[in-house]
Amino acid sequence: MTEIPEHLLKKAAAARAAKAGGEAPADDAAPAAGDAPAAAAAAPAAVEKKKAAPAPLPTLDEAVAKPVVDIPVVAAAKARKRVPYWAATVLALLPLWGVIYVFSVQPPPAGETDPFVIGKEVYTANCAGCHLPSGAGSSAGGTGQQLNEGHALETFKDPLAQVYWEHFGSEGGARPDGTYGDGTPRNVNDLTANMGAFDTLSPEEMAAVVIYIREEMNDATPEDDPNFNSELFAADPKAMAALVEEVAALKPNDPDSVSTVEGAESN
Ligand code: HEC
Repeated sequence: MTEIPEHLLKKAAAARAAKAGGEAPADDAAPAAGDAPAAAAAAPAAVEKKKAAPAPLPTLDEAVAKPVVDIPVVAAAKARKRVPYWAATVLALLPLWGVIYVFSVQPPPAGETDPFVIGKEVYTANCAGCHLPSGAGSSAGGTGQQLNEGHALETFKDPLAQVYWEHFGSEGGARPDGTYGDGTPRNVNDLTANMGAFDTLSPEEMAAVVIYIREEMNDATPEDDPNFNSELFAADPKAMAALVEEVAALKPNDPDSVSTVEGAESN
């Protein structure tokens, strides 16, 4: 153990005595008991000394902290509910929301009411396998009938007659004797292959693919098909779709009933 030097012990004792209210004992202090009265007597003197000390001058800090009476506007501003901190995050994200909003309300991209765009999509996905992308069909090795070079226009004078054929296919789209179309007669036995019913296409898709085959593949003009064409489709696809639905509601194997539909060209 380290020896604590005598003078340090004395210093500690003096500090304890001072804390207890007494004055620091002299270096050659007597034992604590003998010193007690002296310390007690010294205590009041110390208190007296403290009281007598002049009040400290206010520091700069205290001067600033001194309460200021707010003018009414300031008081009102302080009492008002604060804008919450999360509002900053919301504000920062507003431009992002704006971008999302603009993109969500933008008019549909060009093409959504363009029968040639929709029609080509439908044709490529459902018809080109048999009729070939050009529509050359059996004339170029396809299993489907030729559609281009005026072929489909010769077979179907009325676009609604073509709608009927495509909706019911080879089985339901022909008369009981196998003939189909309202123009140059064709027969389902002309080719070995047969065509399925495309009643799963939406009315808009059906309208678009018929218009695509007639106007794009065969260069028909809107004037050639005054009740069912690309201009009417672009202006009001639903009106064209409504005509398709009327044709689809007809009975199968009766292509001549198309003439009863309002909007049929034979009307
Ligand atoms: C499985 C092959 C196949 C597919 C797929 C097919 N067709 Fe056909 N299509 C035929 C055949 C075969 C004929 C001729 C009729 C027959 O022999 O039954 C025909 C005839 C036609 C005709 C009449 C052409 C004419 O002038 O005689 C049109 C129009 C037509 N198809 C349109 C379409 C459209 C539109 C689609 C797609 C939605 C389609 N076809 C899908 C095989 C197909």
